[in-house]
Amino acid sequence: KYVTFDYSAAKGFITESEIKMIEKIAEYAKAELLNKTGAGNDFLGWIDLPVDYDKEEFRRIQEAAGKIKEDSEVLLVIGIGGSYLGARAAIEFLRHSFYNSVSKEIRKTPEIYFVGNNISSTYISHLIEVIGDRDFSINIISKSGTTTEPAIAFRVFKKLLIEKYGKAEAAKRIYATTDKAKGALKNLATEEGYESFVVPDDVGGRYSVLTAVGLLPIAVSGADITKLMEGAQSMRERCLNNPFASNDAMLYAAVRNILLRKGKNIEIVANYEPFLHYVSEWWKQLYGESEGKDQKGIFPAAVDLTTDLHSMGQFIQDGQRTMFETVINLEKSPVEIIMEEEEVDLDGLNYLAGKSVDFINKSAMNGTRLAHTDGHVPNLLVNLPEQNEFFLGELFYFFEFACGISGYILGVNPFDQPGVESYKKNMFALLGKPGFEKQREELLKRLES
Ligand code: PA5
Repeated sequence: KYVTFDYSAAKGFITESEIKMIEKIAEYAKAELLNKTGAGNDFLGWIDLPVDYDKEEFRRIQEAAGKIKEDSEVLLVIGIGGSYLGARAAIEFLRHSFYNSVSKEIRKTPEIYFVGNNISSTYISHLIEVIGDRDFSINIISKSGTTTEPAIAFRVFKKLLIEKYGKAEAAKRIYATTDKAKGALKNLATEEGYESFVVPDDVGGRYSVLTAVGLLPIAVSGADITKLMEGAQSMRERCLNNPFASNDAMLYAAVRNILLRKGKNIEIVANYEPFLHYVSEWWKQLYGESEGKDQKGIFPAAVDLTTDLHSMGQFIQDGQRTMFETVINLEKSPVEIIMEEEEVDLDGLNYLAGKSVDFINKSAMNGTRLAHTDGHVPNLLVNLPEQNEFFLGELFYFFEFACGISGYILGVNPFDQPGVESYKKNMFALLGKPGFEKQREELLKRLES
């Protein structure tokens, strides 16, 4: 059993000859990736990460997670973008659906809250109330060490920690995941003696879930990070070695590019399990930041189904025909709930008696896939055998590898993100950051007019 890709339902939209014709391009893209000869080739550390990671640091991550589990009721994970979404995706996928609200007896590990991924005063102050007078620790994650959103949150919560424990004890409750040598956070960590973990130079934020960036929070949640790495290793083997016809990541990259060339410039990732919501968010960042550049790219969108069939479902079925859909299908639900017969069939549901809720969910999925196909939305399927660490590791690597190939087929550098700087420059200018004086004047004039 492993994560697989199936585009058989989209065959009405794609011909075998198109697949044949794109094969060479996909092979070329793969060679560029593996020979490190393509654009962004100094950010390919993620390719070998599942087999070639720092084992000593991995052990320290597990130790730190053990200490946090011992001495903290709450862990704050401060980070944004690639320094946030992977950990959240994994924890929401692997752990209890109501992780923070369920009793400690069931959860067994600290509550985990993510902050520094917005600039909302309300969010921050409500989180302070949630912590109350309970013991907490902080994992501050920033590769550059200078990103504004997490830096602001860190100032606030570091102060809280120092007020509660004093400077020396607070320093023992702060774990910094950042560059090995440079950046404000690295300097602070060295100065204050925080335990530090490294974001490797050659791994960009959105490809960093299998580094300490993702691994420390995931380990604190009680999930098995060794199994996560094993899953990534298993998928890496197939991505690197399988020929095109049986290389699922290459096929996914190829098929989505064929569809793009036919005007399908929106990809909607759909799930039928709420615990996949943040996997979709992680995927959106991976593909959005990697491919949306040089005025090109497929717009990555996501829906949670069947929930959004009652909102976005109308548009997908019947709106502008510019999209294709990729369903992440959890093949085996870990839980079975059977519908029971009622003596008086007032709600008219007795026809479902004896059927499992998951069977009903799968029937909704199968019916929806056919309906969307009939509505001219090509339907792709990524099958996820079970809800566990191993298959999540496979899924992460599958999407990462496919993204690298897909970006090269598209003709962009999938490993940079020049576009994210524009808003920062304007924000810094408006905030009066030294060095931005001229832009500030210009922007204020524009805002006043
Ligand atoms: O993928 C990326 O590179 C970005 O999303 C970054 O992860 C995000 O901007 C956070 O950056 P940093 O980790 O430097 O704070």
